[in-house]
Amino acid sequence: MIKVVDKIKEIRRLIKDLKNKGYKIGFVPTMGYFHEGHLALMKKAKRLSDKVVVSIFVNPTQFGPNEDLDKYPRDLKRDIKLAEEVGVDLIFAPDSNEMYEQDFQTWVTVEKLSKGLCGDFRPGHFKGVATVVTKLFNIVQPDIAIFGQKDYQQLLVIKRLVKDLNMPIEIVGHPIVREKDGLAMSSRNTYLSSKERESALSLYKSLKYAKELIKKGERSPSKIKNEIKNIITSYPLTKIEYIFLGDPHTLNPYSETIKDRVLIALAVWVGSTRLIDNIIIEIS
Ligand code: PAF
Repeated sequence: MIKVVDKIKEIRRLIKDLKNKGYKIGFVPTMGYFHEGHLALMKKAKRLSDKVVVSIFVNPTQFGPNEDLDKYPRDLKRDIKLAEEVGVDLIFAPDSNEMYEQDFQTWVTVEKLSKGLCGDFRPGHFKGVATVVTKLFNIVQPDIAIFGQKDYQQLLVIKRLVKDLNMPIEIVGHPIVREKDGLAMSSRNTYLSSKERESALSLYKSLKYAKELIKKGERSPSKIKNEIKNIITSYPLTKIEYIFLGDPHTLNPYSETIKDRVLIALAVWVGSTRLIDNIIIEIS
């Protein structure tokens, strides 16, 4: 039976017991309100470890002052049920006071990889993510941790911090899980009206079209960007925040020509909802 705890002391005690028994701990950090994407991460953790720990914490330090912290969807009861169904062993669901003492003043910054893409539009976001993930790793001390590739820049930031801070944790990415019509799964999709939901399809449509163009030989980042822009803006209620084409390891943008492997990443506002999506294309 799944155990749910909200205190650091308690989760530490339970994990220590599991480790003493020789179990390999798989960890999935989340902000809750589970969809199939989250459940896929948990299933992967289950395949790759003996005991699966999931954290549910809507981390205030990664939200900007005008972002959706207050309205971020939450449903702990439903989350516990879904996690139990996929065989999660332990849920850690602390509140903000448990995670951040009043005099909290230590931050983790991954300098280069936090710049560009989402980093340019969400100042402080990756500092909040890197800090909370470091804290969660220190609390849970997993052997392996699974993250979705929809938040591609976040995945790179976390891989870098684990290397730089010598944490003995294997970081594993999981491919984006999509709805049948291609929309990348996200807890924020619940904000979309039915009209906005249709326009949200423009992100994946434009990524697929960009892939076709590249397969046909197009190598100019500006031409590909233009085509992406044309598709997205042909849908009502959309406003592009950025279109990025660049190196999937360094996140350096390609300026003249794309080569080897290209990450195409997008952030688009659909009404008042900010959506992200990406694709990696191998250039043969
Ligand atoms: O991807 C998320 O849900 C969050 O950014 C994470 C990694 C749980 C940190 O709060």
